[in-house]
Amino acid sequence: MNNETIAQNLRKTLEFYQEIGFEYMPFKAVTSNIKDSNESIITSNELKTKDLSLVTCHSSLNKEAALKALREEIGDCKRCKLSKGRTNIVFGEGNPNAELIFIGEGPGAEEDRQGRPFVGEAGGILTNLIKKMGFKREDVYSANIVKCRPPMNRDPEEDEVSTCMPFVQEQIRIINPKVIMALGRVAAQSLLQSKVPISKLRGRFYEYKDIPLMPTFHPAYLLRNPKDKWLTWNDAQMVLERLKTSG
Ligand code: URA
Repeated sequence: MNNETIAQNLRKTLEFYQEIGFEYMPFKAVTSNIKDSNESIITSNELKTKDLSLVTCHSSLNKEAALKALREEIGDCKRCKLSKGRTNIVFGEGNPNAELIFIGEGPGAEEDRQGRPFVGEAGGILTNLIKKMGFKREDVYSANIVKCRPPMNRDPEEDEVSTCMPFVQEQIRIINPKVIMALGRVAAQSLLQSKVPISKLRGRFYEYKDIPLMPTFHPAYLLRNPKDKWLTWNDAQMVLERLKTSG
């Protein structure tokens, strides 16, 4: 990693922590007597860059720990009005090193009850799709744009989406998947900052912070419109192709 990339990563990390209310960094200072991987003592000049990469590489060294720290940061969240009606925060789950991440809209009744994403009826459709793609649920990661259930399963409102966005952005940054599948209008439009309907967005790749993103129909839509399942399967096949070619 060169110094410019390290500085950019550090800036992004600091901005994220500032956005969620930190006034100082929760990292221990790195002092002398640190040895690098060749067991040689790092000099003070080297320490500056090694120090930064210790901070910025936490996600690649231990994505699980970084996700856990993020969950702790969310805490017993009361940052928006969705907190009033929820039973459980649905943070997201799966493989922290996943190459493929599915982002939905927000928890439904069953997800709210269990505190886990996509475990209700729509979750069954997603699980089938994941299996058809050749994966297990534990191989991939799934999360939502908003972490608390909107009342009566209404669409999350703009202020709720913007309050929760830093967390899903940070989940994606930590996992750094090869491909994102955005499930439904809310996920696709929020991540792409677009107003284009999902029927027009789906079926081709976009870039989300340099990660290929494929918008597709939400599994709940496919429950109501099973005739459109083949379109989502087409989207999934493009995703598989991209995973194969992205090394
Ligand atoms: N719908 C979503 O968007 N997410 C879930 O976790 C469940 C249903």
